[in-house]
Amino acid sequence: MNQATIEEVASFWNRRPCNVRHSPKPRGTREYFEEVEARKYFVEPHIPRFAKFDEWKGKTVLEIGCGLGTDTVHFARAGARVTAVDISDQSLELARKHVDVFGLSDRVSFYHADAEKLTDVISPQPFDLVYSFGVIHHTPNPERVIQQIRENYVEPASVLKLMVYYRYAYKVIMILLKEGRGAFWRLDELVARHSEAQTGSPVTYLYSRRQMRHLLEGFRIEEMGVEHIFPYRVAEYKNYRYVKSWPFNFLSSGVTRWIESVLGWHLCVTARPCASNDSRASASF
Ligand SMILES: C[S@@+](CC[C@H](N)C(=O)[O-])C[C@H]1O[C@@H](n2cnc3c(N)ncnc32)[C@H](O)[C@@H]1O
Repeated sequence: MNQATIEEVASFWNRRPCNVRHSPKPRGTREYFEEVEARKYFVEPHIPRFAKFDEWKGKTVLEIGCGLGTDTVHFARAGARVTAVDISDQSLELARKHVDVFGLSDRVSFYHADAEKLTDVISPQPFDLVYSFGVIHHTPNPERVIQQIRENYVEPASVLKLMVYYRYAYKVIMILLKEGRGAFWRLDELVARHSEAQTGSPVTYLYSRRQMRHLLEGFRIEEMGVEHIFPYRVAEYKNYRYVKSWPFNFLSSGVTRWIESVLGWHLCVTARPCASNDSRASASF
């Protein structure tokens, strides 16, 4: 178990909220959020495919770890009623502005909350969708988040959509080779240090498919797959230019997609609660 505290996690994301440099425009403006959204879904086109925003029209969504609120806005725009939480005040402040500038404030309720103790802030109630993209691997005790969801926020028809980092990813191999010179026994420390745009994440766990099935005990996994390799050269990317790095500059998009489906960084899972007489997670993936 990681010894980091939730205060360290909050302070890390307050220093630099996720995706906050996706646009050089003045923060909090409409143009800023438009560029943040465009860049996010350009670099991570699998997110709309995974979230299926349009399917949640008229439904209730609990989003855990909303960051700047980019996915939040898309759920709300599609007609969902969203309850969004995050542990980072700075992220929430921007997320509130984000829904505000697009006139969606009446469809979203934001809460400052620790996902490991959601019931302290959100009263138990079933949601149609519980969605958490790139979050629970950054909290010291991810299994507590799943327990909170399972016991308080789902009913048999609810859907859970989760993204966590994949253990056998191309990015993990690159971190190990470039930053750790192959020191695999330092893997956890190296990944935490280098997993994000900002170095030094207090917590970053990695999951294999087997570990994910274990984590989701009590849920039936309907889909589980890996997506996303970042193919751009970082120096140019920081200046908002997209130049592919080797070997992706030589590979066709079809081959790149195939490599992503094997060595992608994002392990994306869609699951439903098991019926009470079937309490084990599905082992078909
Ligand atoms: C990598 S960002 C992802 C943000 C957003 N889901 C997105 O895709 O842009 C991780 C987010 O999780 C939040 N977070 C981490 N641990 C949390 C916890 N225990 N409770 C609530 N939010 C948490 C962080 O503050 C941060 O905003």
